[in-house]
Amino acid sequence: MRSIAVYPGSFDPITNGHIDLLERALKIFDKVIVAIAANPDKKSLFTMEERFEMIKTSLADHPLKERIKIDLFNGLLVEYVQSIPAKTIVRGLRAVSDFEYEFQMALMNRKLNADIETAFIMTGMRWIYISSRIIKDVVRSGGNVSGLVPVIVEKALAERLTSLTEYAD
Ligand code: PNS
Repeated sequence: MRSIAVYPGSFDPITNGHIDLLERALKIFDKVIVAIAANPDKKSLFTMEERFEMIKTSLADHPLKERIKIDLFNGLLVEYVQSIPAKTIVRGLRAVSDFEYEFQMALMNRKLNADIETAFIMTGMRWIYISSRIIKDVVRSGGNVSGLVPVIVEKALAERLTSLTEYAD
């Protein structure tokens, strides 16, 4: 039986930290589904389709791409996971500060569906301080994020955040 894990997130946008986590998950699972959440509570910079395209381009030449699927989902994560069907959700942990939110989500997901487990994987030390939010903050303020996100993301951030500044002016 092939093991399948779902790696959900906002991926607004994908960072090299996310890709590191995905690669670590691929050491454990045969197939990993990168699942982009609609997440109506969060105001996103990129549409779901833009996020999908950026992930697709970033992973287009990945040596393990045959074992990776990129997908979009709406509504409850556990329902999406069950529809695959899969039994494992993978989430990354960077620091203690992630723990409370992750713990709460994992327990709520378990309450919603006791057959699905959440597996936490430690992010590589190189990426411990980055998040999509901090990357956006840095670009918005004119900082350089090269090496922290895929090239396509770097370009998209520069375009999107520059045009936002122009619009605000
Ligand atoms: O990258 P993020 O924003 O930390 O990812 C959060 C995500 C998308 C995994 C979470 O918000 C989610 O699972 N959303 C789907 C709706 C849902 O199932 N909510 C209940 C989980 S507690």
